[in-house]
Amino acid sequence: MVDLNWSQLPFAYVKTNCNVRAYYKNGEWSQLEVSESEHIDVHIAATALHYGQQAFEGMKAYRGKDDKIRLFRWEENWKRLQDSANGILMQPVPKELFHEMIKTVVSKNKEFVPPHGTGASLYIRPLLFGSGAKVGVSPADEYTFIVFVTPVGPYFKAGFNPTKIAIVHDTDRAAPLGTGAIKVGGNYAASLRGVIRVQKEGYGAPMYLDAKEKKYIDEIGAANFFGIKDNTYITPASPTILPSITNKSIVELAEHLGYKVERRPVPLTELETFEEVGACGTAAVISPIGEIKDLDSGRVYQFCKDGKPGPISTKLYETLVGIQSGDIEDPFGWVSFVE
Ligand SMILES: Cc1ncc(COP(=O)(O)O)c(C=O)c1O
Repeated sequence: MVDLNWSQLPFAYVKTNCNVRAYYKNGEWSQLEVSESEHIDVHIAATALHYGQQAFEGMKAYRGKDDKIRLFRWEENWKRLQDSANGILMQPVPKELFHEMIKTVVSKNKEFVPPHGTGASLYIRPLLFGSGAKVGVSPADEYTFIVFVTPVGPYFKAGFNPTKIAIVHDTDRAAPLGTGAIKVGGNYAASLRGVIRVQKEGYGAPMYLDAKEKKYIDEIGAANFFGIKDNTYITPASPTILPSITNKSIVELAEHLGYKVERRPVPLTELETFEEVGACGTAAVISPIGEIKDLDSGRVYQFCKDGKPGPISTKLYETLVGIQSGDIEDPFGWVSFVE
């Protein structure tokens, strides 16, 4: 195990032993290649640089009490990368190649998988981009797929403690018939104005409203939104939301635990009626929200009034994290192992 201050790790890049790479050229994917370099040599006319042909994924590896390294629902990340590739006409990565690259990069960096019980995990970042040269707007003929890893702590500094969010009305991360439901870099570029604006005001992340009418809650920074009331887990349905694998898992967990689930448009006017609200995602895990400020109207919504996360968010968090780290039996078949 490398010597890092595991329980204090930020969500940031740490250099590891190596990354893995594969190339699509002349109609076929290469074998994977292991690289110790943190750099890539890219053609100046690569479509990723000019026309945004780029997509990525975010997933994690967890070390259990038994010291085994676990992956959580990696196939879902592969499927979403397929959707992203198809959405912007990139060459999809075959499932077996994706799996082999994930397993290889984790196993070659296993001393960077944080110890069990530290709250940290190994973040895995698959990245697919058009590396072939084009000057006119068109899809590339060549693609590069890279997977790197970095050990990370909680995404929101508060960890599993109430965090503060601000509603932005002047930024959309994606358009209804655009790319909001796939994980392409352009959505994040479009979100940056909102991210920096709310950070300057002392908030952890922006809440985006639906791009068309600004009436409904979309999502929160790099996480989905959920609200809880009357023993019901409610999460927005919208064409501009990234389909979160964490949220999909929480929906299944909530049903398994006997809660009701609703996935439907959630009007902003409903916000004040929730007993608990939170953000969920691979990086955010389940982050309870204590305060939401509307930067347009100045209205402040308060939750977790006793300063603690609500009981249902806590139950869902403990069960999800327990399954991911192997402390709780996985009844869903979500976890697989890296040898
Ligand atoms: C915009 C956005 N929404 C939601 C999520 C959460 O998705 P997941 O749970 O699959 O990590 C992410 C992170 O990938 C994201 O970037």
